[in-house]
Amino acid sequence: MTRIPTMAENQHNPAPRVWLETYGCQMNVADSQLVTAVLRRAGYTPAARPDDADVILLNTCAIREHAEERVLRRLGELARFKRTRPALRLGLLGCMAQHNRAALIEKAPWLDLVAGPDAYRRLPEMLGAQSFDPAVDVRLNRAETYGDIAPEYACGVRAYVTAMRGCDKFCAFCVVPYVRGRERSVAPEDILREARQLAERGVREIVLLGQTVNAYRHGATDFAALLSALARVDGVERIRFTSPHPADMTAGLVATMAAEPKIQPYLHLPAQSGSNRILAAMDRGYTVEAYLELVARLRAAIPELALSTDIIVGFHGETDEDFRATVGLMRTVGYDSAFTFKYSVREHTRAFRLGDSVSEAEKSRRLAEVIALQEAISLERYRALIGREFPVLVEGPARRGAGRLAGKTPQFKTAIFPGRPEIAPGATVRVRVESATAHSLICALA
Ligand code: SAH
Ligand code: SF4
Ligand code: F3S
Repeated sequence: MTRIPTMAENQHNPAPRVWLETYGCQMNVADSQLVTAVLRRAGYTPAARPDDADVILLNTCAIREHAEERVLRRLGELARFKRTRPALRLGLLGCMAQHNRAALIEKAPWLDLVAGPDAYRRLPEMLGAQSFDPAVDVRLNRAETYGDIAPEYACGVRAYVTAMRGCDKFCAFCVVPYVRGRERSVAPEDILREARQLAERGVREIVLLGQTVNAYRHGATDFAALLSALARVDGVERIRFTSPHPADMTAGLVATMAAEPKIQPYLHLPAQSGSNRILAAMDRGYTVEAYLELVARLRAAIPELALSTDIIVGFHGETDEDFRATVGLMRTVGYDSAFTFKYSVREHTRAFRLGDSVSEAEKSRRLAEVIALQEAISLERYRALIGREFPVLVEGPARRGAGRLAGKTPQFKTAIFPGRPEIAPGATVRVRVESATAHSLICALA
């Protein structure tokens, strides 16, 4: 197997080019920016297309079977590059690398590298290794936070900054604790340094990331203290975080959100189910009553709060009655938006051995119902804002152009409004809502 020469050996040749594709959640997007920084330091440079890359890496997700199938298909496609360019190195990173390990190498024997989420520091070494066998590193390391490595942010006015890694909750359905390892928090000084540098580069909004981001704790600094410290960074105008776990929404955190104007009035608060029986089987650590009580406390403290959620339909043992309870919860809360998923059995999880009692057809039916319900609720909630004014952080041209600009309201709703030459990304403008769909607000400048 040929290997890519290191920079030292290869001063006259151009730097090896890397094509990196990212699947899965925001944490993976943030990790890809970290990987780009690690590889840049080792002399690699990003490729413009997979066709002219020396290294192709896929940063993958294992959350549902569907996510893994997609990556396996893509790997099959990329294998053809290897046939025409044997020197190309093909690697799999991220959660699926961790989840499947050896099985992956059997399914895709042309892989040169398999690296789990705690192995990114060693990527240059792994890529440089001259060996017939693929380089595999799926050791989890409960101390690894990559706190000293500045990711290469591909950001405009908003940047996603990792605050904590891993998860200790072990919800029965979820693979994350197995593929990301134990919970660990990035030191506050590392996060604040990143934030200051980002603000100097024009970033106005910081989104702190973690699978249970509000479980953040580093020494004496809890999540509320971290948010307060971040709010004191000049240039950072808006602060958000995702995803908080309902069981970790302390009174102190709610009070900090209410008191600190930079913390935006929007929370993604995954409920998963509206049935206590299913919540217990999922090991979520709260009841529907506790969840609703939390929603009430949040809304009392932050009257303008917008809420979104994650819902799983068809978890093992979910009866029609349980499902109706979920529909009931969605109606009761009236979420601004929701991400809805069919339950997917995952190897290694506690629910794996329970089984999968709800048929695929029934899961599809339940999913279609919650999607339609949420569309109707979203449309109603968005339309209720017609006539209201909001400050919008300008991001850039709207996707469906025509000279219009787009940005987010404090509640993280997309606002579309007419452009003017003096309005640049990073500015905050006041808009008035004129009409609405279930996903965006069409506005005039106020
Ligand atoms: N840490 C977050 C969720 C991370 S995963 C939290 O605790 O809420 C994002 C979402 O994927 C989850 O909220 C859940 O709704 C969904 N999900 C996770 N595992 C799943 C599975 N096995 N099948 C279907 N959906 C799943
Ligand atoms: Fe998965 Fe639960 Fe951890 Fe969220 S809190 S990542 S759903 S185990
Ligand atoms: Fe997927 Fe890993 Fe995120 S499993 S959802 S990419 S933490």
